[in-house]
Amino acid sequence: MTVCEYKPGLEGIPAAESSISYVDGQQGILEYRGIRIEELAETSTFLETSYLLIWGTLPTTDELTKFEDEIRFHRRIKYRIRDMMKCFPETGHPMDALQASAAALGLFYSRRALDNPAYIREAVVRLLAKIPTMVAAFELMRKGNDPVRPRDDLGYAANFLYMLTEREPDPLAARIFDICLTLHAEHTMNASTFSARVTASTLTDPYAVVASAVGTLAGPLHGGANEEVITMLEEIGSVENVRPWLENCLERKSKIMGFGHRVYKVKDPRATILQNLAEQLFEKFGHDKYYDIALELERAVEEKLAHKGIYPNVDYYSGLVYRKMGIPTDLFTPVFAIARVAGWLAHWKEQLGENRIFRPTQIYTGSHNAPCIPIEER
Ligand code: SDX
Repeated sequence: MTVCEYKPGLEGIPAAESSISYVDGQQGILEYRGIRIEELAETSTFLETSYLLIWGTLPTTDELTKFEDEIRFHRRIKYRIRDMMKCFPETGHPMDALQASAAALGLFYSRRALDNPAYIREAVVRLLAKIPTMVAAFELMRKGNDPVRPRDDLGYAANFLYMLTEREPDPLAARIFDICLTLHAEHTMNASTFSARVTASTLTDPYAVVASAVGTLAGPLHGGANEEVITMLEEIGSVENVRPWLENCLERKSKIMGFGHRVYKVKDPRATILQNLAEQLFEKFGHDKYYDIALELERAVEEKLAHKGIYPNVDYYSGLVYRKMGIPTDLFTPVFAIARVAGWLAHWKEQLGENRIFRPTQIYTGSHNAPCIPIEER
């Protein structure tokens, strides 16, 4: 067996063959099943895009209506999961609550009929339907309130915002939130999707696959960056302080949250779309001074780091959109997870299609034939 050259973080090493999405990091192109993200953001919905990602084709009207109806029916969660979530400390991070409750779903549903398309569809529907309900439920319960039941008369995005805020959202806010979900749904072999595929390759249940991916997404170098961006903008505090702050950050060789990407060496196309969505919200609901700070920081970073291909990524402007919708900062990554469940499930299904358990090798750097020294002699 030939050992390929080792690359830290498997940079540039293909981990699978996949037809789900495609990124051109030099051109700033993202396609889901060959369709450009700009077109899907403009004309599709998150559930239609989820169907496309998971089953590989855009649904007919009847297929989409059936899919939407099934998801609407399964939005409610078991009372035992709610009871379990009541025991979670309100100071715990919502991503930890989500990982625990996603794994707990597996306790209630039959496991591993992975060769049965009906089981696959059931798991897809249940996870897409219940993850938003669990995110919203933890938010209300950590404030000491009872969670509200999902509303069957609201669409997917509007229902989540309703469950989270206990108010029916403005139609523009609901549409923009749905577009945000589409933008975050899938992104080739990112860290959390890689986790999902590795976990899927052992033929465990889909709930464990999603729980594994949620844990990976939570990190600040991955999905957790959207929360860190707001903290960073608040720390900068004013447009005037942007450049002094940046100088200090670069001197400390600290990473600037929301910037840089392993693949994109130009501005993430999703960041451009999110900027436009933010501006639509500001026009209707009032400006956010942190947007001015973000624009100035983007200009300043381009001056300093464009030569390294460091530009805004998907996490840079998403938080400003979510803030304007009243979503708490520490729920930004759970919102990312709500969307990315579609991509993780698409990769779960694709992995099962031609599975081989992941078991890479390593380059051993330790010693051999070492003595086991008795404790009294150590
Ligand atoms: C997501 O993979 C995906 O597709 C992820 C994602 C998806 O949809 O799933 O797109 C979502 O996770 C977006 C990324 C969110 N994370 C952040 O915003 C955190 C800040 N970004 C960095 O941590 C970093 O850019 C990464 C982790 C995203 C990518 O890191 P790489 O590819 O490993 O790059 P690197 O750390 O090797 O850096 C290369 C150079 C270094 O400089 P030198 O040592 O060569 O001089 O670029 C510099 C780095 O210091 N650099 C940065 C930087 N990112 C890279 N310098 C300052 N600020 C940054 N953000």
